[in-house]
Amino acid sequence: MKGTYISINVLMFIFALSNYLTVHSQKEPKEPLAKLWNIENDEIPKYLSIEKKLTMVDGILKPLLDDDNFGGTYIDVIHNMIFVSTLNFTKAEQIKNRTEIRQYTNLLNFTRAHNSTTRLNSRFQDINNLAKSYMPESCMGYINSKINNIIIASCNETRKETSNIAFIKAINDRKYYPIFTYYSCLEPLNNEIPRLKSRDTVNRILAGDGLLLEDNLFCSVGFWTRDKQNISYIATAGHCYEHGSYYLYPWNSKTPAALIGKMKVHFLEPIDFGLIKIKNNDTQPVPSVRNSDSERYKELIIKDIISVSSNGAHLCSSGLISHVKCGYVITLNGFSSSGNSFRDNIFVANIHNIPGDSGGPIFSYKSLTQVSLNGIVSVSLFDDMNGIIGVTTISSILNAIENLEVVTVP
Ligand SMILES: *[C@@H]1O[C@H](CO)[C@@H](O)[C@H](O)[C@H]1NC(C)=O
Ligand SMILES: *[C@@H]1O[C@H](CO)[C@@H](O)[C@H](O)[C@H]1NC(C)=O
Ligand SMILES: *[C@@H]1O[C@H](CO)[C@@H](O)[C@H](O)[C@H]1NC(C)=O
Ligand SMILES: *[C@@H]1O[C@H](CO)[C@@H](O)[C@H](O)[C@H]1NC(C)=O
Ligand SMILES: *[C@@H]1O[C@H](CO)[C@@H](O)[C@H](O)[C@H]1NC(C)=O
Ligand SMILES: *[C@@H]1O[C@H](CO)[C@@H](O)[C@H](O)[C@H]1NC(C)=O
Ligand SMILES: *[C@@H]1O[C@H](CO)[C@@H](O)[C@H](O)[C@H]1NC(C)=O
Repeated sequence: MKGTYISINVLMFIFALSNYLTVHSQKEPKEPLAKLWNIENDEIPKYLSIEKKLTMVDGILKPLLDDDNFGGTYIDVIHNMIFVSTLNFTKAEQIKNRTEIRQYTNLLNFTRAHNSTTRLNSRFQDINNLAKSYMPESCMGYINSKINNIIIASCNETRKETSNIAFIKAINDRKYYPIFTYYSCLEPLNNEIPRLKSRDTVNRILAGDGLLLEDNLFCSVGFWTRDKQNISYIATAGHCYEHGSYYLYPWNSKTPAALIGKMKVHFLEPIDFGLIKIKNNDTQPVPSVRNSDSERYKELIIKDIISVSSNGAHLCSSGLISHVKCGYVITLNGFSSSGNSFRDNIFVANIHNIPGDSGGPIFSYKSLTQVSLNGIVSVSLFDDMNGIIGVTTISSILNAIENLEVVTVP
């Protein structure tokens, strides 16, 4: 009898201990970058410094590669390597032997490729011009250095449009044989009509927060910006333009939180960009990116506007629907065509976004708490699993708009 009693006690102790262990071994959720790289959260700083070094070496390497013997580079943080599309390996040996490069040869992987930069660039430029004149619907084009080819991405739904057919025919007539890919693009989410909640406290507006338009469409806040008169604006995508007012719409919310104001300027070409003047002084913009799903890093401070410079570098987005997600730079120079407008010099990254995320910030991490703003989401092609986005870059915004200052925390 006594033995039974003890063993039950022991069992209960073991049960309690295992409960204790389950609770305490529960890991905090992975940060978006840890998901991308498939690493643990505490390894992020290490991999960020690997990426920084690869980007630096890539910057030294690229000017040394001539356009006929090579076909582009991309960095691979996980393998700690820079891949170089190579047509001529004699030339590659000479590059490896250069004094600037010699110390980094263990980071370089010259792989055989068939398309030189000269060929890719001239064909891409031609396709770019064709897109500009045919204006296909929901279409993006870019050189993918990893695949060493030109990609023309579009939606299944717009495949049969007259302009898309004519565009593709023109490419095929030239025998360029780029790779055509199609996404099964979904319709925008159909949300119920939200109602304004009673106003209480001052509402903070972070990059990545939701914007509700009066016609019941959603976009995302890009970033806080000021003009010469020190008037504050919220930057977002120009295609989010609507005549009426914009409301702050928090993540996971069913109602807008506050009025922001109206969009004072908006463009669809050459860049997809608009500015909402903050009319309501109960709303206060904040120079940070929303990352509320994180346990520890709920707000990422926008430190500067330094853009990524290597294919394969990480980029992340923050937006109303998708929250924070990360992917890789595919190109620093692609185009997008939406049927009525054409934009080039956009970044393309493989991030899965959907329409309510439009206008949200695109950024890269400097550390777990600080980011560099790279631009805003202009276009996304996506299906259930995969997607790519086109990014209106900060440099194209500052080139196009006079006297605009991005508010950062230096
Ligand atoms: C490869 O590069 C070497 C060194 O620059 C050059 O002499 C040779 O002509 C190149 N080969 C081809 C096929 O272009
Ligand atoms: C590397 O460079 C040295 C001189 O800097 C030269 O003597 C040597 O032949 C070169 N090797 C190759 C493979 O080009
Ligand atoms: C270069 O990359 C290829 C393909 O990923 C791989 O098979 C090869 O081992 C790499 N070479 C080096 C030296 O890492
Ligand atoms: C790239 O190379 C492949 C294989 O040689 C070829 O089929 C394709 O047409 C090339 N792409 C371009 C844009 O020239
Ligand atoms: C596009 O549509 C075709 C048929 O119209 C279908 O076979 C294909 O799987 C679709 N592609 C995607 C990515 O859904
Ligand atoms: C601009 O306005 C902000 C408040 O919105 C204020 O803190 C800042 O000092 C002003 N800057 C200048 C240069 O007037
Ligand atoms: C906010 O604006 C109202 C009028 O629109 C004004 O009465 C109030 O003083 C302003 N508050 C601040 C803090 O500027």
